Amino acid sequence: MNGTAPRRWSRVAAVLGSALVAGSLLAPVLTAPASAADREPLRDAAERTGRTVGVALAPHLLDDPAYRSVAEREFSLVVAENAMKWDSTEPNRGTFTWGGADEVAQFAADNDAELYGHTLVWHSQLPSWVSAITDPDDLRTAMTEHVSAVAGRYAGDVTAWDVVNEAFEGDGTRRRSVFQERLGDGYIEDAFRAARAADPDARLCINDYSTDGINAKSTAIYELVRDFLARGVPIDCVGFQSHLIVGQVPSSMEANLRRFSDLGIDVRITELDIRTTTPPTPAALERQAADYRTVVEACLAVTRCDGVTLWGVSDANSWIPGVFPGQGAALLWDEDYATKPAYTAVADALGAGTVDPGPDPTEEPTDPGPDPDPTGPPATSTCEVAFTRHAWDTGFTAALTFTNTGTEPLTGWSLTFDMPAGQSLTQGWSGTWSQTGRTVTVAAPAWATDVAPGGSVSTGFNASHSGDASVPETFEANGVACAVR
Ligand code: XIL
Repeated sequence: MNGTAPRRWSRVAAVLGSALVAGSLLAPVLTAPASAADREPLRDAAERTGRTVGVALAPHLLDDPAYRSVAEREFSLVVAENAMKWDSTEPNRGTFTWGGADEVAQFAADNDAELYGHTLVWHSQLPSWVSAITDPDDLRTAMTEHVSAVAGRYAGDVTAWDVVNEAFEGDGTRRRSVFQERLGDGYIEDAFRAARAADPDARLCINDYSTDGINAKSTAIYELVRDFLARGVPIDCVGFQSHLIVGQVPSSMEANLRRFSDLGIDVRITELDIRTTTPPTPAALERQAADYRTVVEACLAVTRCDGVTLWGVSDANSWIPGVFPGQGAALLWDEDYATKPAYTAVADALGAGTVDPGPDPTEEPTDPGPDPDPTGPPATSTCEVAFTRHAWDTGFTAALTFTNTGTEPLTGWSLTFDMPAGQSLTQGWSGTWSQTGRTVTVAAPAWATDVAPGGSVSTGFNASHSGDASVPETFEANGVACAVR
């Protein structure tokens, strides 16, 4: 049986996972496009919100270093764009082909990313032998055997499955797929039960498009979820594909996600892209950025929204131009893998750390004039720290911006300071954080090792305290005292 075949992929040890979060072992960063290298990876920022940022992968593109390095650096969840669909995994009855699906699973394991399963039962990309089955019992058997084999093979690795995809029409009636026509309404729950039996640990989702706002189709899915929950049919999540058009994000998106979340199930934006006419105008790209921000913020505002998945890495390999002629430019990276305004908008929405590159070194330095504050920091100081924090009775969250005020670049920087007694670091981001006694050190994250003259890095941490929440008095960067603002 295929589910018992030996697996090549294995999860990266948890310790590596936490180091990745801290940003210290992101080896591929060095090959990431320069335009993204001054932002904290999306995956690290999303992790602080308890969410994942995903991407649909095409295995044949993983050999392209530009594609691969973006996928490795930025995403904490991967899904096969096509490789786990029925026509890829069971092109002939009982004959399973796992090549592409296994490559995506291996990529997930190698990069400590979640593996999302897409999709088990769908009317499209369905081999003709399935559509040719006329006997209902035979079709039900073919369907449950397919679900068992595919979900069984990746049991323990896939965290969630799109069990059934696109089962509804826009008016909320059932799509007249071969499954619906031959098996009736019950096919959806049969598929969910088979998936639960094959992989008891995977969350089981129903997924669809044009369900992003409150409308007849999303309401039909809402009623299906309520019915399944009431009758004990296994269902854990709903996917909202969100193949959107620039300027047309539904205004009820957040409210729609929330009504599902309020049922006690998880929701996810599963196939996000926001297309426009090609070639895109600068105005369209700015509007697209605002739209991406709206979608990410809608997810962040909803407790049980566990993240957002982009349907592809770059505009060079998106499915949109092939299906919507004249449309495209729908993703966060352009055809040359340069980040677009939409990337910055998503990074901003997730609170990703930034490195301010400082003034252009090719420009003439401006005369700073006489020192306005001769009693200020010593002339030898080459750094400045701004430290703000929000405290409560037992802890605080601190934001710290550190600026290179010297004339030389700071390379491989680390910043140290002593915390007042009773304070203890619990979690830091945008850098590798540690505490020994009262001394706290933050070492540069891989994406911000160099700080140019005039440049700055924003980082932060959480700490507990036992009554004294006062701020540290002195900071040193690479052993040199910094001015404190
Ligand atoms: C698309 C892929 O991106 C294309 O490469 C393929 O040719 C067709 O399918 N809804 C879904 C996805 O659930 O599986 C589809 O993916 C896009 C629409």
